[in-house]
This record gives sequence, C-alpha cells and structure tokens, in this order.
Amino acid sequence: MSGAAIYPGSFDPPTFGHLDLIARAAGLFPRLVVAVVGNPSKRALFSVEERVDLLTAELDGVAGVEVTAFDGLLVDLCAQLGIPTVVKGLRDGGDLDVELRMARTNREIGDVETVLLASDPARSHLASSFVREIARFGGRLDHAVPPRVEAALRERLRA
Ligand code: PNS
Repeated sequence: MSGAAIYPGSFDPPTFGHLDLIARAAGLFPRLVVAVVGNPSKRALFSVEERVDLLTAELDGVAGVEVTAFDGLLVDLCAQLGIPTVVKGLRDGGDLDVELRMARTNREIGDVETVLLASDPARSHLASSFVREIARFGGRLDHAVPPRVEAALRERLRA
C-alpha cells in the first residue's frame, strides 16, 4: 500500500499484540503514525507521555514509524496530519463488532477509511486490561509485554 496510516490506541500498556500489528502495518505503509489517545474518561495506569515513551523505546529502529499523542477525535487527528487512513487490529469477533462500528462512524464523520488487520493468533488473547490486572497481582507477564514495559509496570505498581 502506498501513503501513510495512523494506528491509534490506548496502549496502557503496549503489548506484544500492539507491537506485532505495528511491525506488520509498517510493512504495508511507508509512514505509520502510532497515536496514543489521552482519554480523560479512562483512568490510565501510565500517562500519555509515559506511553509515548514506552512505545518510542520499543519501536526504535522500525523504519517509517513515529509515535505521537492526541486528544479528541481520531478524525480530527487524521485531518490535522493529512492522513485519511487508519489501521486497527482484530483479535476476535468482539473486536470486529466494535471496530466495524468505529470504522463506519469515522468514515461518516471524517471521510476516514479503516484497514483492519487480523492479529497473529499467538497474540490474539492479549489485552492491556489483562496485563494491568496480572501485574497488580504479581503474575507472569513475559508472554505479554517486553521486559522494559514489564519493568515499568512493576515499578508503577510497587507503591
Ligand atoms: O486501544 P483502544 O482503547 O481500543 O483504542 C480506542 C481508540 C483510542 C482507537 C478509540 O477510542 C478512539 O479512536 N478514540 C478517539 C476518540 C474518537 O475519535 N471517538 C470516536 C470513535 S468512533
């Protein structure tokens, strides 16, 4: 595919599922903007800046990928960057229901098209919410997040 795309998400924290999707989307689009949402209605474990830093560190050396933060509507970020294409991952039917609705909404309100990529089956059970819960109770995380992210989680939850 030619051009650019935006891969938006909460990334609280980034998981191997996100990183796999980003690597694969970067293979499809010469420019990929990973956009971290600062959603005031969701209480995040990590600040937007911390999530941007975690992703930037993990994506160091992945050609064509940049990480940014955004507030507000995704379609407004698309307009601001002049990138009318969004990439999202699909883990299962639950994601499909949500993503189809979001894709149709973003097309309606912002003329933004969404490309849905099937997640790697080996990663399709991963969820940031599970990761946060496992971390809170001190469980194993090496299957879900890179060591740097695991260290940040342990540090955050030590208090
Ligand atoms: O990782 P997530 O939490 O599943 O990502 C959801 C995200 C950030 C992509 C979605 O909530 C979003 O696009 N938020 C920005 C606000 C917006 O545009 N809302 C209208 C969606 S149809």
